[in-house]
Amino acid sequence: MKLSCILSIISLAVAVCDAGFVKVGNDGNFEEDGKRYIVWGANYWQAMNLGAEQTGNRTRLNHDLDKMKTMNINNLRIIAGSEGPADSQKPLNVLMPEPGVYNEDMFQGLDYALYQMKNHGMKAVMVLNNFWQWSGGFAQYVSWVKNTTIPLPPGYPENDPRATYSWDDFINYSASFYTCNECIDMWKKHIETVINRVNVYTGERYKEDDTIFAWEFANEPRQNNDGSMPMTDEFIEDISYYIKSLDSNHMITLGSEAHPSFGRDVFLRENNHENLDYATTHIWVQNWNEYDPKIKSESNLQHAIDYCINHLRETAEWAQTVKKPIVFEEYGMARDGWDGQDEYDPATPATNRLKYYNAILDELYTLTNENIFQGHNFWAYSGEGRPAEGDSRDFYLGDPAHEHPGWYGIYDKDEDMINLLENLGRKFLELEE
Ligand SMILES: *[C@@H]1O[C@H](CO)[C@@H](O)[C@H](O)[C@H]1NC(C)=O
Ligand SMILES: *[C@@H]1O[C@H](CO)[C@@H](O)[C@H](O)[C@H]1NC(C)=O
Ligand SMILES: *[C@@H]1O[C@H](CO)[C@@H](O)[C@H](O)[C@H]1NC(C)=O
Repeated sequence: MKLSCILSIISLAVAVCDAGFVKVGNDGNFEEDGKRYIVWGANYWQAMNLGAEQTGNRTRLNHDLDKMKTMNINNLRIIAGSEGPADSQKPLNVLMPEPGVYNEDMFQGLDYALYQMKNHGMKAVMVLNNFWQWSGGFAQYVSWVKNTTIPLPPGYPENDPRATYSWDDFINYSASFYTCNECIDMWKKHIETVINRVNVYTGERYKEDDTIFAWEFANEPRQNNDGSMPMTDEFIEDISYYIKSLDSNHMITLGSEAHPSFGRDVFLRENNHENLDYATTHIWVQNWNEYDPKIKSESNLQHAIDYCINHLRETAEWAQTVKKPIVFEEYGMARDGWDGQDEYDPATPATNRLKYYNAILDELYTLTNENIFQGHNFWAYSGEGRPAEGDSRDFYLGDPAHEHPGWYGIYDKDEDMINLLENLGRKFLELEE
């Protein structure tokens, strides 16, 4: 396919070269160069930050990519936007510290990460915004436009004196983005800047780079809790049309959770839009009170497994109803917290996590083999990073800045988990043949 691409350039044909771009094929599966493409992926939001020459750590980035390659990983979900002043609930360095002002060191960090991902045969889900506070996101745009203070909810560190608001307050503030036209216009300028960016390492425009898998609206865009501030159809149409009009090479997805408390109808409405290519689901058993890492009992773990499998089957049906492929885009589990063990400590075993991954990936294999699901991105790869408390804090773990360091991340030394992912990855990738 690379050959036909080169030939079409020689013959001066314009814009017919789509080798390497993943699309949805006639059978409803992802397809690259006429072959099925399975997502065997990780969340690795920190790629841009680590890729920055001045403030990141390229050695660590490259080691992490090498290690993930041994786990057969071919897809990373990374942030392609972070906004506003740095604070304790946000990475030390952001891409857009002020509206329309870019930190070029960070942008080159994103360039470098994509360049090295290309060298590793991996593709990137480019997350363009965030419902949550840990990269700036919707709340930062609202704060810029309305000149109001973001009502930060409690997070990590626990004693942050500004984080005095409730989650309901924060969610309302963030969800007001959908009807803030000035905020949306500001974001659209960012979308255009990223899509048209020329990578300084490859000379390629992002919109022509087949290292990019898809453009994702945001990390977990959702309605507010009582549904009175929905992600409107108008908003979804506007943004998805805008992205497609700038770049027809890449797929588009919302990045939403398919949250069970919002349910089937919300999922169907939000995903049933022509310019959205695929759907996603995120499942968080501990955050949703379906699992407690402090409890050793077998039934605690079994309940979490059953819950997750049930929701996977449910969202598979929802996705079939809107005739879209679906990716299991986020899930994770803490290390063993019973008998006084510290579940945030990298030295603590993670035996339940291993059993959980094994069981739910087994179900995911079935649903992927049935041509409904297309694979997964686990949360998250922390690689050679390690939690450190206080001022020496490592902001570039897979656990985002507002959450307890070490909660869900998988390290390069988690050998059992690395082996499991390597072996299951091989099995899943056989579905591409
Ligand atoms: C960069 O990462 C490498 C590999 O993980 C690590 O050994 C080194 O200490 C890091 N450098 C800095 C300045 O943090
Ligand atoms: C934003 O709010 C601050 C304090 O509330 C005020 O001092 C400032 O003048 C405001 N800026 C604009 C542009 O309205
Ligand atoms: C969030 O918004 C809803 C709908 O307007 C409202 O009922 C609720 O009280 C708000 N929550 C807070 C904490 O203000």
